[in-house]
Amino acid sequence: MIYLDNAATSWPKPPAVLAALREFAEHEAANPDRACHRMGIAAGKRVGQARTGLAELLHAPDASRIAFTLNGTDALNMAVKGFLNDGDHVVTTTFEHNSLSRPLTGLERAGRIRVTRVGPRDDLTLSPDAVRRACGRDTRLVAVTAASNVFGVLNDVAGLAAAAHDRGAAILVDAAQAVGSAAIDVAAAGLDMVAFPCHKGLFGPMGTGALYVRPGLDLRTSREGGTGIRSEDATHPEEMPYRLEAGTPNAHGLAGLAAGLAFLRETGLQRVREREQSLARGFAQRLSGIPGVTVLNGRPGEGRTGIVTLRVAGLAAQEVAALLDGRYGIAVRAGLHCAPGAHKVLGSFPEGAVRVSFGFFNSDDDAESAARAIAEIAGKGV
Ligand SMILES: Cc1ncc(COP(=O)(O)O)c(C=O)c1O
Repeated sequence: MIYLDNAATSWPKPPAVLAALREFAEHEAANPDRACHRMGIAAGKRVGQARTGLAELLHAPDASRIAFTLNGTDALNMAVKGFLNDGDHVVTTTFEHNSLSRPLTGLERAGRIRVTRVGPRDDLTLSPDAVRRACGRDTRLVAVTAASNVFGVLNDVAGLAAAAHDRGAAILVDAAQAVGSAAIDVAAAGLDMVAFPCHKGLFGPMGTGALYVRPGLDLRTSREGGTGIRSEDATHPEEMPYRLEAGTPNAHGLAGLAAGLAFLRETGLQRVREREQSLARGFAQRLSGIPGVTVLNGRPGEGRTGIVTLRVAGLAAQEVAALLDGRYGIAVRAGLHCAPGAHKVLGSFPEGAVRVSFGFFNSDDDAESAARAIAEIAGKGV
């Protein structure tokens, strides 16, 4: 299988991640931080390694400000529902993933918040000035993606944070597509909340995600229960990360994540980004000469992730993806990618498009094979 669906979840995982999963399951898989026996202590250490690894990656001032979540969606829900109050105004974009747009739209339709949606510029980036203009006196939150999972274009999160703060609002960044390939410095950029899955660019297993909350900002939580600390108290601890974490964590997954973060540290963010960008660039160049094939998300290059979104004339996106899988053993994602607004921007709603997303473990041969397969499909039809 040539796997070109890394924007959904990265595959394969580095061998060190698989080894860590096995090692944890065989020797350390006790309940972390709940017990004083050596297995529980070892498990707690792994979870701590994952947390400090994330803090280092994000330049977080304090690792305890990072709470583990089930996935990116869970982290976004915790941020939106834990931060917003009735009557708040929120500025977001027209091209968010459903993981952010649905919680916002749900609160909006319930009459609890007002939402203003800002579209992208022609180059598919989000203008901090447009965000600033959309903010009013009652805007409490700017909730935006660091990179759309359909456009693959990185936004200026520091500029967007400055725009939000100028208007007295906080910023929540959905970093699902950016974390692990774009440098994110929560302290330098002044980010209030950053939500992301850990199973994409961070090479962790599925079932891992995280939410960074800046010091001084306290979110409401909807989950209370066991934390392994102060069991004598009748109420849930208020300090991070316990405030947002209740019950047994996915310690198996977090042990894998700790190894994924170590792999990323050793490899270097820039190397990962350059490889993904160069594969996407080479692929798009190959496609440019094929009649009937249209790349929808502009020219891959700097300021991009490894995503190429395309259509083949006369064929539904799902048909193209099924042919790539069935005849060529190539995995891509077709449809609306849980981001209908982004497809409206590109003019590919409601039919959707084919998303080819490169990862660190892909080679130029993979890009060549995919381009050749798409040329054949475009030439012959079904
Ligand atoms: C931009 C964006 N936000 C949020 C998510 C949701 O992440 P998860 O699938 O881990 O819940 C995704 C996943 O594809 C995404 O691409």
